[in-house]
Amino acid sequence: MHLLVTGGCGFIGSNFVHYTLGHRPECRITVLDALTYAGSKDSLAAAGDRVELVVGRIEDAALVDRLVQASDLVVHFAAESHNDNSIANPLPFVTTNLVGTFTLLEAVRKHGRRFHHVSTDEVFGDLELDDPERFRETTPYNPSSPYSATKAGSDLLVKAWVRTFRIQATISNCSNNYGPYQHIEKFIPRQITNILSGRKPKLYGAGANVRDWIHVDDHNSAVWAILDHGQPGGYYMIGADGEQNNKAVIELILALMDKPSDWYEHVNDRPGHDLRYAIDAGKIRRELGWTPRYTTFRDGLAATIAWYRDNAHWWRPLKEAVEARYAKQGQ
Ligand code: NAD
Ligand code: DAU
Repeated sequence: MHLLVTGGCGFIGSNFVHYTLGHRPECRITVLDALTYAGSKDSLAAAGDRVELVVGRIEDAALVDRLVQASDLVVHFAAESHNDNSIANPLPFVTTNLVGTFTLLEAVRKHGRRFHHVSTDEVFGDLELDDPERFRETTPYNPSSPYSATKAGSDLLVKAWVRTFRIQATISNCSNNYGPYQHIEKFIPRQITNILSGRKPKLYGAGANVRDWIHVDDHNSAVWAILDHGQPGGYYMIGADGEQNNKAVIELILALMDKPSDWYEHVNDRPGHDLRYAIDAGKIRRELGWTPRYTTFRDGLAATIAWYRDNAHWWRPLKEAVEARYAKQGQ
């Protein structure tokens, strides 16, 4: 089977490539990635000759047409993915997340290929801390940030292409991932690499915001469950019952890294900051028999800390610039 993986040099996409190489001997992979600030060839350094990297953009219709035609199946991870960046400069989010997804859909329609769209729980907006409901496949869309609005728009494009043009597509909406190869602008790797470089962790606001953490390998095993057994036109929530507030996550990182529990600082909050995400993954568990393997957040986090400790060559060249950019925003 020949997979086209967009965004395969980013965090989840590169982990998907490694996961696939380890679990699917029948697959070869073409990665299409623009190598933006968030993509790194080094994340695929150990991938070997079953993987070909094509450097290019998903909005490039001629390139996308050729690569989709040559593949059996498209798994679409490429996106502008960071909320804070979308607040500072929304345009790349509109271009990549909307025009890029549209370009892929048109090629998939023309060549009759199966398409899986990787999306986020953020399309549903946020929940109150005490809301007994969690996000499900039927929750109405209500995005808050330019990032989540463009991801919501991309989901709606996929849904329209399924209904109107009858393309064979599936969508997954997953909660917050953690694990190796995550860009250090994101919450967990930012705090780990802050501590490893002698800086204090930075907490937005009071730290009461809740995220529903899942290990990236569990996300990718769920994507494979959908590729193997998902209903064409089916939509699936992915989550692993990992709710934690941000203050508790920072305190756990500090404990695992032998620092005092109050060795962090409060910084400016994110405008429009979503309060809580929480996933009901009952459908994918029931219908596809998927279950997460990393059920102890503390263990997954300890392994992630060890990865950043052992792979400083991967993140250290980025650190000064990332922190300088945050400092300008008072974050
Ligand atoms: P990331 O920012 O780490 O990686 C994105 C990758 O896409 C990079 O390699 C980048 O170079 C590439 N890319 C960006 N624009 C491109 C373009 N125009 N053409 C080609 N390649 C381009 O993102 P991530 O965290 O790995 O997220 C991957 C996908 O999963 C995204 O669609 C995101 O919305 C979704 N998602 C992420 C999370 C999470 O917690 N990180 C959770 C749920 C869903
Ligand atoms: O829910 C899925 C989403 O999770 C994905 O769609 C996004 O691509 C991914 O970036 C992530 O979005 P968040 O905005 O939730 O993740 P981020 O890592 O930016 O922040 C997680 C929480 O931590 C959020 O409440 C903001 C807070 N935060 C973040 C940073 C960078 C801090 O308190 N301090 C920080 O330094």
